[in-house]
Amino acid sequence: MENDIKEILITKEEIEAKVKELGETLSKEYQGKTPLMVCILKGAVLFMADLVRNMDIEVEMDFMAVSSYGKSTESSGVVRILKDLDTTVEGRDIIIVEDIIDSGLTLSYLVEMLKGRNLNSIKIVTLLDKPHRRKVDLKPDLSGFTIPDEFVVGYGLDYAEKYRNIPYIGVLKPEVYSG
Ligand code: PRP
Ligand code: MN
Ligand code: MG
Repeated sequence: MENDIKEILITKEEIEAKVKELGETLSKEYQGKTPLMVCILKGAVLFMADLVRNMDIEVEMDFMAVSSYGKSTESSGVVRILKDLDTTVEGRDIIIVEDIIDSGLTLSYLVEMLKGRNLNSIKIVTLLDKPHRRKVDLKPDLSGFTIPDEFVVGYGLDYAEKYRNIPYIGVLKPEVYSG
């Protein structure tokens, strides 16, 4: 599995330090509130799990499954909602937790949809941001790392559903996805 990785872009230690910092920032920002943390499955599941453990305020967690990539390395632009929230979000402070923002299509669609539900507030936290590839005007409120335009896997991010359990962020060898 790790033979398919060309280089390590962000180490396990760098991720840990950053997630701790993001957790502390959010704890300060949402002091006295109980935000609803919304993990975007499946990519954000590892980030979510580590992020909430670095927050010392009361939070609730919910999960949404949307998919736009399938087995390709390019977003199709077609966002499918595979699982909606269980929680009623009216009046809530929502924190969307994403692993990566690339074209921005997934989140812009989602944020627009959620805004129609009478929220008190909504913010986006992403571990990785790839701003060069943006197709819509979308900026995260909080971002861990800005990365170059390379196909990355690990720490939740997949290629054709694999590599999610690699503990660091790595660049996949091009021959792996070019066949
Ligand atoms: C990936 C990633 C983000 C989204 C970012 O999810 O986890 O959710 O694409 O791309 P975008 O900004 O171009 O929309 P994917 O659709 O691959 O589903 P997954 O999280 O289950 O892997
Ligand atoms: Mn995803
Ligand atoms: Mg994916």
